Amino acid sequence: MRWFLVMIAAVLLNFHLFSVVSASIVKHSPLKGVAKSPVLPPSAYLSTAYYQKSCPNLEAIIHEKVSAWVKRDPTLAPAIIRLHFHDCAVRGCDASILLNHRGSERAAEASRSLRGFTLIDEIKAEVEKQCPKTVSCADILTTAARDATVLAGGPFWEVPFGRKDGKISLAKEANIVPQGHENITSLINYFEKELGLTFVDLVVLSGSHTIGRSTCYSIKQRLYNFNGTRKPDPSMNVNYLNLLKKQCRLDTNYVNLDVTTPRTFDVAYYQNLGKKMGLLSTDQLLYSDVRTTGLVSLMASQPDFFMGQFAVSMVNLGNVNVLVGKNHGEIRLKCNYVNY
Ligand code: HEM
Ligand SMILES: *[C@@H]1O[C@H](CO)[C@@H](O)[C@H](O)[C@H]1NC(C)=O
Ligand SMILES: *[C@@H]1O[C@H](CO)[C@@H](O)[C@H](O)[C@H]1NC(C)=O
Repeated sequence: MRWFLVMIAAVLLNFHLFSVVSASIVKHSPLKGVAKSPVLPPSAYLSTAYYQKSCPNLEAIIHEKVSAWVKRDPTLAPAIIRLHFHDCAVRGCDASILLNHRGSERAAEASRSLRGFTLIDEIKAEVEKQCPKTVSCADILTTAARDATVLAGGPFWEVPFGRKDGKISLAKEANIVPQGHENITSLINYFEKELGLTFVDLVVLSGSHTIGRSTCYSIKQRLYNFNGTRKPDPSMNVNYLNLLKKQCRLDTNYVNLDVTTPRTFDVAYYQNLGKKMGLLSTDQLLYSDVRTTGLVSLMASQPDFFMGQFAVSMVNLGNVNVLVGKNHGEIRLKCNYVNY
């Protein structure tokens, strides 16, 4: 019976995703209603075989570096996954988050607790040695996020390659990335309008909060002055609230996003939401909002389904507004700077 439900859900979700894809193809076709070959979205030009000849060792190099670094510091796994999200969230997956100059995305308030830049730099240096001027920083970051997921116990997926690196990075644009205080309507709108992703992707990708941590800065309003009431957020379990108050002496202290299994990629994140133990207000709202509560319950009870759908949604995320083809973007030599 359970599996039957999962099958139905899978069919419905995939139909939903398919209709979104076909709708966007029709929308971007210049000759609406005329029978012709459809105009493909840029992500259709990505391919898992893209570097097969030009850099056959690429995935081995990335995997070796990510696993060595994560072994030494497990907090890097969630950091890299989040870095990839913040890259794709602004101007698409073009490594714009990595550019390190005054006024770049990386310098924005919304980027203050991003980490993992040095690991990406080290991977890039090794890749340049073996395959000079060939592999984009955007592809490296995407692949590192996949490997970080697997190392934390999450699913594997094939990464489509062929992204170019962008040349523009503006701090003020980085502040459109959700910070954890938004309502579900604005999150769904942001995913749909800015990223071309669905509310399914929103719920499933939020599942990456099953690992990693947050600064107390991002949640202090929930503890002391929720929504201007001078009281804690009522949608929070009281024992959990007290634990967080103890752990959050300073804004710069860290607390785990998944209070039960903070380092394991599992469905405990979703299960916690049902017990009023989501860390971010936006996590907890996924459970209370009628549009997303059913999906949260599904993920909480069906780990295999979550894992499979997470892989699908991560590929969707990695496809957001990618730069492809000769006339778009460049292959950066160093991930922190555009080429001269
Ligand atoms: C949809 C809305 C989202 C919101 C509002 C949100 C918000 C946040 C916030 C506030 C933090 C903590 C930041 C701090 O240090 O203070 C965080 C951490 C994190 N986020 Fe999200 N996030 C969202 C989506 C995503 C997505 C789509 C991904 C990945 C696919 C992701 C992956 C992560 C990870 C892994 C961490 C932990 C980082 C670490 O331990 O260094 N988040 N998120
Ligand atoms: C959600 O947030 C947006 C942006 O802050 C706001 O305009 C809107 O009124 C909010 N909607 C609800 C239902 O609270
Ligand atoms: C926050 O406060 C506004 C008005 O003060 C209210 O309309 C809204 O429902 C509150 N939001 C939550 C999540 O309690």
